[in-house]
Amino acid sequence: MSPRSLPFTVRRDPVPWARQRPTWRDAHPSVVAQALKRAQARPTGNWYVVGASRDLRGDRPLARTVAGEDVVVWRGPDGRAVGGPGICPHLGAPLRDSPVHCGTLVCHWHGLALDGAPRAGWQPLPVHDDGVLVWVRLDAAGGEPPLEKPVVPRRPDPERSLTAVFTGTGRCEPQDVVANRLDPWHGAWYHPYAFVDLTVVDVPGAGGDGDDGDAVTVDVSFRLTGRLVVPVRAVFTAPGPRTVVMRITRGEGEGSVVETHATPLGEDERGTPRTVVVEAVLATSGRRGFAAARRAAPLLRPLMRATAGRLWRDDLAYAERRWELRSTGRFPG
Ligand code: FES
Ligand SMILES: [Fe+2]
Repeated sequence: MSPRSLPFTVRRDPVPWARQRPTWRDAHPSVVAQALKRAQARPTGNWYVVGASRDLRGDRPLARTVAGEDVVVWRGPDGRAVGGPGICPHLGAPLRDSPVHCGTLVCHWHGLALDGAPRAGWQPLPVHDDGVLVWVRLDAAGGEPPLEKPVVPRRPDPERSLTAVFTGTGRCEPQDVVANRLDPWHGAWYHPYAFVDLTVVDVPGAGGDGDDGDAVTVDVSFRLTGRLVVPVRAVFTAPGPRTVVMRITRGEGEGSVVETHATPLGEDERGTPRTVVVEAVLATSGRRGFAAARRAAPLLRPLMRATAGRLWRDDLAYAERRWELRSTGRFPG
């Protein structure tokens, strides 16, 4: 492999963290606020991400509280994803704790069997499995005109990509998660272990090469270790009020996508909203070695999740801080 074809470069003369260029003057609160406002106006058709397709296992349901409603999803007798309320219609058993036998969810209190069709007062909900993520449609919670299918972002060919899904929960609303993602200027300051040399090259309204005219484009280097970095161009868009997509448009991993979905869980006993972040990393590469990477997928997945996990611990702290200040009238933006 010639040095030119290596995916990483050695960063010469690294700038110490405190001496990098401040980004706060560029990161106008109004730019983030306006991008968030436009995202919130986009339709969702009342679809919410509940988790990873991979977590739809044969023996128990995937359970989640979404916008205050208990929901269970599992694979029905024909293998399709089915789901509905997580409260047994008989005497209220938590169906999240009930086992699945041959595609039938069997209530563990008195044996009511659900195969995904209406039964004994239990009504299924529309469920969509896009191959990476599982969605459920909650029309009462969403309050929008329903769409038959969720708005799934354009993704790389699954045959040529490596997928990992990370899930984390924070005390905030979905908009706080989206606002964090729409502020790319914090990257090299707040996550110096992951990003260096971050330059925002295009923001909404600047007429650049963003893929939908409402994108934030960033040149940044991912830090592998120490001075080994991978320079890329990344474009951020918010196709809906609860989704931010980062697409690598130049450099190693071109075509790779990170989809961040924020699903409201509901409020805790103290009235604080809780939100789950479900982030799908769909990594692709034209490199020959990538086929080998795909074969190693079961090994790489925990590693990819761990990286996302570190970033999200910090980004959830950012989102939670935003919520804390907003809810007490102290947010400066
Ligand atoms: S509570 Fe589920 S069958 Fe009785
Ligand atoms: Fe971040």
